[in-house]
Amino acid sequence: MSEDGLLDIKFRFLDLFAELDETELDVVENWILSRAYRKDLQFRKDLDSKEEELIKIGKKLRKLVPFEGEMPSENIVPPIVGDQADCTKANTCHIDEFLYDEKDVEDLIKSGKLKKHYCIDCNSRNVKELIYTSHSMSRQTLLFIFNVLLPTDLEGKRLLDVGSRLGAVLYGAYHFSNASSIIGIEMNKECCEVQEKIISQFSMDRNRIKVIHSDVMEKHDIVQLSDIIVINVLDFFVDIEKHKEMWYFFKKHIKKGTFIITNRSMADTLGYLDIFEEFMEWLTICKPYQIENEIFFNTEINSEIFLYAVK
Ligand SMILES: C[S@@+](CC[C@H](N)C(=O)[O-])C[C@H]1O[C@@H](n2cnc3c(N)ncnc32)[C@H](O)[C@@H]1O
Repeated sequence: MSEDGLLDIKFRFLDLFAELDETELDVVENWILSRAYRKDLQFRKDLDSKEEELIKIGKKLRKLVPFEGEMPSENIVPPIVGDQADCTKANTCHIDEFLYDEKDVEDLIKSGKLKKHYCIDCNSRNVKELIYTSHSMSRQTLLFIFNVLLPTDLEGKRLLDVGSRLGAVLYGAYHFSNASSIIGIEMNKECCEVQEKIISQFSMDRNRIKVIHSDVMEKHDIVQLSDIIVINVLDFFVDIEKHKEMWYFFKKHIKKGTFIITNRSMADTLGYLDIFEEFMEWLTICKPYQIENEIFFNTEINSEIFLYAVK
């Protein structure tokens, strides 16, 4: 390492240490002197290399879907209830987090391909920030689900992603877990075709990963058999009545002990639909099973992803 390189590293360390009080500094010093950080570093490197697989898939997907990640055959409508009810077609821009991470988005904004603002009265200085929304889970979220939230060993377990879209959750489960069966049910045919292409192009084991083109409500047998069910926010895709019906359907068919993973609390989702009270006794919230790995993730993700078990 050059002298300048070392200087730069020392500078970055000091920047970090300057934020700590004496006790915190002692803890960090011990962590380094005991060499425990070596194990953590190795784990972090393993995570990075697993993430590489998903980066490759994301890059391939960019070529298969429109830039906005929405298919011509889809009817995606901003919701009228809930925490995304402020979204409209004019003020909201869809950018798929699985295809473009934060750094990519910054680059897209810099290059002008993605706009940050919209004009609210055509005198262009009077602008407002666009709301960015993603219909897929990000790589970081998927790493968190499989390396922090769920138990490490998923051998013999069946995972279902409700509305698998471009397949992000399926590929995450495939690479970051040993779940024996990974199924996506997606009602949009074009999305299913895209997932099929990725599964083929990346030679994934079709005995383990599968996509079914259907409304999930027509597949209660699969729902009943699943041990882990991922349900990303569906607000943009179903109206209030259908959304309620789906939750009644899940309550009827998901078996006891099944894990449900959501990216918004059930209290919020069901509260917005005005049906929370009927579901109060249905689920219990679970603590992460691999809590020791939490240090590898930022606290933002931690507060956005929920793990429940059916009582
Ligand atoms: C927010 S996206 C989730 C994508 C993916 N699960 C993820 O987290 O990356 C929701 C998807 O659910 C699909 N969907 C909504 N209702 C559905 C239903 N009743 N049956 C099957 N798919 C459905 C939509 O077409 C959409 O692609």
